[in-house]
Amino acid sequence: MLKKLDEIKAQAVEELAQISDKAELESLRVSKLGKKGVITSILKQMGSLSAEERPVVGQKANQIRGEIEALIKQKQADLQQAEQNLKLAAETVDVTIPGKQPEIGHTHPLSIVLDEVKDIFSGMGFDVVEGPEVEWDYYNFEALNIPEGHPARDTQDTFYITEKMLLRTQTSPVQIRTMEKRNPPLRVIAPGRVYRSDAVDATHSPLFHQIEGLVIDEGITMADLKGTLEAFAKRLYGEQTETRFRPHHFPFTEPSCEMDVSCFKCGGKGCSMCKGEGWIEILGGGMVHPKVLKNGGVDAEKYSGFAFGIGLERLVMFRFGIDDMRLLYENNMKFLEQF
Ligand code: DAH
Repeated sequence: MLKKLDEIKAQAVEELAQISDKAELESLRVSKLGKKGVITSILKQMGSLSAEERPVVGQKANQIRGEIEALIKQKQADLQQAEQNLKLAAETVDVTIPGKQPEIGHTHPLSIVLDEVKDIFSGMGFDVVEGPEVEWDYYNFEALNIPEGHPARDTQDTFYITEKMLLRTQTSPVQIRTMEKRNPPLRVIAPGRVYRSDAVDATHSPLFHQIEGLVIDEGITMADLKGTLEAFAKRLYGEQTETRFRPHHFPFTEPSCEMDVSCFKCGGKGCSMCKGEGWIEILGGGMVHPKVLKNGGVDAEKYSGFAFGIGLERLVMFRFGIDDMRLLYENNMKFLEQF
């Protein structure tokens, strides 16, 4: 029996070496140490032994059981460790794999040109101010000398929110808001979104952008307006750019004008960009109407000023030779990547 016990151990060691998973290990444990296992069956046979043999075999059986138990425990730990290693290997992050390249955005052409315009005017001492897009009729029309029934209201198809509230059709209301808030001398530009109930086509959009300008001080004249806007045009389109001022009419300026710049594509000879004219209109302006100064709380006896309004989309389209305004809003990456 002692010999048998040694064999049991040797066999257990051999079998353990073959085992590669927990289920096999468990069935080995049952077959060696379980109630119907080989050790138990030896112990059951002890009845046939003599009184001297019994304790010797009993002790040996217990010793072998202990050793097999320890071996199984060790195997269990080994399997656990192997499993853990496999799991870790599978979860390993390869830090040398190249990352996914994120798509980098860049400045929209409208912002490129707006930034330039802001830079140019900042360089001339202008502050950049803003006003609300949802505006009162009073600021958008009334205070700008466009009373109810004035024909100028017809040219600016308005989105009304209530009878007295609307989406601003121009950035000019910021003139009044600025005069209310600040005292002269004043030099500001006010860029922003404006809205008109126009159908979308190559040159119209219900939402577009304007840049308003306002200068108020003692002794401001039309010469200041011309000098400032000529300097602006040359900075934006190049020193060779020529400007011309044509008389015009706006309710909030008197006198009023429009400014053209020589076509920067053909230099004034006439081409498809300037429709054969040689000139391109880029802004409206004029001397601030005394009524508008008064509505803004400015003493029209002491101060005078000039104002101007620039259509940002037009600037951008001429600047980059874009012939359809819709391209500026569609967010087509193929188009936008060119700038
Ligand atoms: N608000 C005018 C428009 O939307 C543009 C404009 C013209 C603004 C003359 C001015 C100005 O400040 O003096 O058509």
